[in-house]
Amino acid sequence: MDAALAQSQHTLQMPPTDLVAEANHRIANSLTLLVSMIRMQAVAVKKADESLSSAQVRQLLDGVAARINTISQLHRILSHTGSEGAVSLKPHLEEVTHALVAALSSPEQAVRVVHTGGDCIVLMRQIQPIILILCEAFINAMKHAHPAGVPLVITVDCSPAADGRLALSISDDGVGLPEGFDPAGGGMGFKVMRSLAGEIGADLEIESTHFGLTFRLRLPAGAMAGAKLA
Ligand SMILES: Nc1ncnc2c1ncn2[C@@H]1O[C@H](COP(=O)(O)OP(=O)(O)OP(=O)(O)O)[C@@H](O)[C@H]1O
Ligand SMILES: [Mg+2]
Repeated sequence: MDAALAQSQHTLQMPPTDLVAEANHRIANSLTLLVSMIRMQAVAVKKADESLSSAQVRQLLDGVAARINTISQLHRILSHTGSEGAVSLKPHLEEVTHALVAALSSPEQAVRVVHTGGDCIVLMRQIQPIILILCEAFINAMKHAHPAGVPLVITVDCSPAADGRLALSISDDGVGLPEGFDPAGGGMGFKVMRSLAGEIGADLEIESTHFGLTFRLRLPAGAMAGAKLA
């Protein structure tokens, strides 16, 4: 192929520079968050003062790899979509959950993901916190839902809540929170998820039953269930 033509085709596929700059800025924030999470994990490991099993080390490293991969997927998403306006969430949920399963499942812990509900339209600026919350919920399900390694099923649902707001829920079919555990507290994961939800004015509900754990994110007005983008 003619070199000039190849170059122009490449240029055409490139996202505009202002989108890339915006994406770079947002991703830099996510990387900073990731670094503090890894540092806090290092402190927690040191404080526990006991050696980790190889399975625990693998789980920690898989978690770090899954978060880095999610951030790199977010970079791709953000650098091709403007920061204003609305976006269809479902294709991104499917793409990211597919990669999370590939990164986190193992012969010891198989996982299957089911997507239910319709499509949902969210504001572009909401997408990054939503995807990072999804990533934490997946890491938690893989780590805590089935301590005996029973194959795990995670359901991702996007539907209107009773109050008309859009609710994104991520549920597992595991053992639920430990007896007496207060979901309003929690570890670093819960804190990060709440703070990400706060960034976009969403409520994060954590519901534990004998059928498993659900993280339910109620998005503020502006996000819509079932709507089609013009
Ligand atoms: N899907 C789940 N099923 C059962 N228990 C869970 C689940 N998710 C979280 N938990 C419980 O809630 C606690 C707090 O979770 P959180 O994500 O805040 O911390 P963590 O996963 O232990 O550590 P970190 O997220 O910092 O790596 C967990 O330690 C676990 O006991
Ligand atoms: Mg966690």
